[in-house]
Amino acid sequence: MEQKLKELQAEALQKIEQTEDLKSLNDIRVAYLGKKGPITEVLRGMGQLSAEERPKMGALANEVRAAISEKIEAKQEALEAAAVEKQLASETIDITLPGRPVKVGNHHPLTKVIEEIEDLFIGMGYQVAEGPEVEKDYYNFEALNLPKGHPARDMQDSFYITEELLLRTHTSPVQARTMEKHEGKGPVKIICPGKVYRRDNDDATHSHQFMQIEGLVVDENITMGDLKGTLQVFAKKMFGEDREIRLRPSFFPFTEPSVEMDITCKICGGEGCSVCKGTGWIEILGAGMVHPNVLEMAGFDSKKYTGFAFGMGPERIAMLKYGIDDIRHFYTNDIRFLKQFAVNE
Ligand code: DAH
Repeated sequence: MEQKLKELQAEALQKIEQTEDLKSLNDIRVAYLGKKGPITEVLRGMGQLSAEERPKMGALANEVRAAISEKIEAKQEALEAAAVEKQLASETIDITLPGRPVKVGNHHPLTKVIEEIEDLFIGMGYQVAEGPEVEKDYYNFEALNLPKGHPARDMQDSFYITEELLLRTHTSPVQARTMEKHEGKGPVKIICPGKVYRRDNDDATHSHQFMQIEGLVVDENITMGDLKGTLQVFAKKMFGEDREIRLRPSFFPFTEPSVEMDITCKICGGEGCSVCKGTGWIEILGAGMVHPNVLEMAGFDSKKYTGFAFGMGPERIAMLKYGIDDIRHFYTNDIRFLKQFAVNE
């Protein structure tokens, strides 16, 4: 019997040793230590033993049980620990891996230039005004001293929607709309950025849709000196302190007198080169003193109030500022072009 118990122990211990999972370990526990197991069976035969041998065998049987269950416990712990290890290993995050770069966008160069100009004028006390892109013929032309049949209307080949409605050809109608809202009372001090439309064939310097920024100041005692000073500040802030401006006489129906502003050419410093077509000057914008007819039509007393206005093309300004040679770059959204403006965001 002793022999049998020892064999059972050896057999069980070996099986436990070889077990690789908790389920079969439990099967072994049931098989060897359960009520129907071989040890219990051996012990049932104790009745045939002598009185001296019985306690010895009982003690041995208990030892065998204890050894087996101890081994099972130990194996169970080892298997559980191994399972946790395995899970941890499979769930480990390798924090040494470099991350995937996140692509960051940047503002469109036109947006940058417009915001820069807006900030500059907001800093001088201007408000940003907006107007509709589908505009009434009245605001786009008539209220700006361009009555029906006026020859200057031919200069602006327009997209008409009906006889009275068109896609605005400039941002100047916002002047008239804003003055109307002020009901004859100054001061008015606005800039107005927005899209405008003309029937142009697209090429390196023309686009059927482009942007303008309009400026308007109306108050008592506004003079040409105010206009010049404002434009000077604008030019130097936008293009550099070393830039000079000059005002050339020009004509716009809604201003009198009218001027065009040039700045000294950065490329040649005023000597004359291909960019400035040998003149040393580059044209930047149109401006002038608001025509009395325009003030009166918008409800302002032109004897009491005077004003100045200016209009510029941010595309042209961006082209000069960044050395861009084709206006179409702004609209074709070539990512290689756009991402060059990501610096200093
Ligand atoms: N509206 C003019 C254009 O589209 C630009 C312009 C010139 C606006 C002179 C003005 C101005 O306000 O005073 O060409």
